[in-house]
Amino acid sequence: MLSEMPEPSSLPPSVRIVPGGGGLPVARVRGRAGVAEVYLQGAHVTAWAPTGGRSALWMSSLSRYAPGTALRGGVPICFPWFGPHASDPTAPAHGFARRVDWQLAAAHEEGDDVVLAFRLTDTEATRSSAWPHRFEAVYTVTVGSRLTLSLQVTNRDSVPVLFEEALHTYLSVQDIRATTVSGLHDAPFIDRVAGGTALAREAGPVRFAAETDRMYLGTRTATTVTDGAAGRSVAIEKQGSSSTVVWNPWAAKAGAMADFGDDEWTGMVCVETCNVRADAVRLAPGESHTMTAVLEVAR
Ligand code: BG6
Repeated sequence: MLSEMPEPSSLPPSVRIVPGGGGLPVARVRGRAGVAEVYLQGAHVTAWAPTGGRSALWMSSLSRYAPGTALRGGVPICFPWFGPHASDPTAPAHGFARRVDWQLAAAHEEGDDVVLAFRLTDTEATRSSAWPHRFEAVYTVTVGSRLTLSLQVTNRDSVPVLFEEALHTYLSVQDIRATTVSGLHDAPFIDRVAGGTALAREAGPVRFAAETDRMYLGTRTATTVTDGAAGRSVAIEKQGSSSTVVWNPWAAKAGAMADFGDDEWTGMVCVETCNVRADAVRLAPGESHTMTAVLEVAR
């Protein structure tokens, strides 16, 4: 069991808690091998760069920073449902985890890496939400030359629980129109732009020429995002994840979002390590499940 929020004096010198956007507390990490920022609200990683590199993550210049409001960019944690709730239209999109404060339970240095552990458990508010269960989530963020994100969920209820989860990773690219995502060849997907539930099948790398919102199911493979215009790529390895979502809103949808700059859609792509729809996770009482994504930049 993890302890309470560590005292500032027990934090390693590479970690400081400072006021970030809107005064929200953010853990600022300056490790030997990489730097990062993680908001306590949502345990939301908003920046990560290997030492000497630029941030691989995208943040909207118009993101809101306010209590209870999801940030736009970085790595929101979607839990315990993905997208609109299946039966409750009043429930917030992508679940409650990205809108509530997580506790920074531990932080330490491990070689050149800095490891932070965040913790979230059910509250009266979450128990009266569309997902009324008792749970414990521990999110371990390892900041180094690679960024490792690991979400462990334990069922603390007396009944089996079913949940969806996503590490909704916004990557920065120079031009989405010259970007490809490989690793999903032949994977079945639901095309959410077409609005259907029928499965199509991917052929070759994913390319972008219009709004793209695809939910690949039953795929456990790593992906590589190749940013052709910048001449760099980001590899995303994963474990404990059977789905991948790929999203770019394109011009009209970005223009309709108040927290998304009108022209910023050209500079981002979401490749989300997840377990959604038919890949949702079922846990018996006391059981745990861990989903991990590892990001690495190659030049
Ligand atoms: C993606 C979904 O994961 O998240 C999209 O596939 C959705 O359908 C997008 O529009 C952003 O969601 P939100 O709730 O952060 O605006």
